[in-house]
Amino acid sequence: MKKLWGGRFQKTPEKWVDEFGASIHFDKQLVKEDLTGSLAHASMLNKCGILGDEEAAAIKDGLNTLMKKAEADELDFSVDYEDIHLNLEKMLIDEIGPLGGKLHTARSRNDQVATDMHLYLNNQVEHIIELISSFQTVLVEKAEQHVETIFPGYTHLQRAQPISFAHHMLAYFWMLERDKARFQDSLKRINVSPLGCGALAGTTFPIDREYTAELLGFDHIYENSLDGVSDRDFILEFLSNSSLVMMHLSRLCEEIILWCSQEFKFIELDDTYATGSSMMPQKKNPDMAELIRGKTGRVYGNLMGLLTIMKGLPLTYNKDLQEDKEGMFDTVKTIAGSLQIFTGMIQTMTVNEDVMKKATKEDFSNATEVADYLAKKGMPFREAHEIVGKLVYTCIQKGVYLTDLPFETFTESSDLFEQDIYTVLDPYVAVEKRTSAGGTGFKQIQLALEKAKACLA
Ligand code: ARG
Repeated sequence: MKKLWGGRFQKTPEKWVDEFGASIHFDKQLVKEDLTGSLAHASMLNKCGILGDEEAAAIKDGLNTLMKKAEADELDFSVDYEDIHLNLEKMLIDEIGPLGGKLHTARSRNDQVATDMHLYLNNQVEHIIELISSFQTVLVEKAEQHVETIFPGYTHLQRAQPISFAHHMLAYFWMLERDKARFQDSLKRINVSPLGCGALAGTTFPIDREYTAELLGFDHIYENSLDGVSDRDFILEFLSNSSLVMMHLSRLCEEIILWCSQEFKFIELDDTYATGSSMMPQKKNPDMAELIRGKTGRVYGNLMGLLTIMKGLPLTYNKDLQEDKEGMFDTVKTIAGSLQIFTGMIQTMTVNEDVMKKATKEDFSNATEVADYLAKKGMPFREAHEIVGKLVYTCIQKGVYLTDLPFETFTESSDLFEQDIYTVLDPYVAVEKRTSAGGTGFKQIQLALEKAKACLA
């Protein structure tokens, strides 16, 4: 098979070598971006007098025909033409004749492929931002339903202080808000056009890079052609931003998995987001949460993979760069799927309010309240801490909780105690009184909900 670049060759690689070097299996996902870039390039060549009006019109007709076929999934790609760029060039020549060969004037696959990926990520990142917003909307909805649902907050996975379930849901809202801001900011660096950088050094043709940039919706052009063809920072940034999203999702996965265990029973997943066991008839497994926790690993892997590919790579284009794509595609698919699953999974889960409430009654997560009570009456907090620690110890010895202690036990340890200590021990009151900014108090949660909704508006 004669190669489109075959002029200086006497022999062609064997089929399996071609297979090994080809990227068409995966870069065919860039078909629309590649055609869009070509349409802009053809318009620019025409505007700059490099292509005549009729030539440009014929080329653009051909490209539009290919675009229609691409949309109808009617294009047959072949390994013989290595990658998406050469496949489409061959198809264009088949479609309109040798004139199709003029399209590649003042262009290289190096600036072409970089352009494709900038266009691709621009669209994908915008889509991912929308998916994050949808998930955040569900988190806000859940939070609104559970402002007064009290459950234990943990540190060291030990019950620490009672909190509102809404507060917990909103914690994830704010993580995702940062994720969204990072993606939004990254668009500045994605929206830069490498088209016209040529193979590496620019071109002798009188092209207009600003014009193609404008046609393609890019805000800027790369200032330096060497940088333009070999920069993959924007993909690394995407992978890094995605890794942070996955890390956040993975933390919630872990909590979901714990919460729906027999030991916690804080939530129940809807049947539509759970699976059974082939052997154990009683099982209802949180597979989706486990899988997303697992998929976090592949996204980190994609980031590490590309960082390693880029390390020590001399300027400018090297074939190593072809390895930038699969991890990017895989990450887009993984993060989009994970966000969509999470949106449905959280929306449909049942929160076992009674179990949560019971958990806060049957523990010592109200111990801080007692220490704060004494501190508010003037006792140094450190002394209060010691006294309450001893009270907790007494409870553990007796197998009871702080609310079960008779009033005398309190007064024996400090004469600052009054009858109102029993109100203070109520987890509901403990949550309600946490009125400091960003705290779990109900008033703070109402404020947080308003702020969250304003972010989504
Ligand atoms: N398939 C190649 C890639 O994905 C396109 C660029 C090829 N350029 C080259 N000079 N071989 O990186």
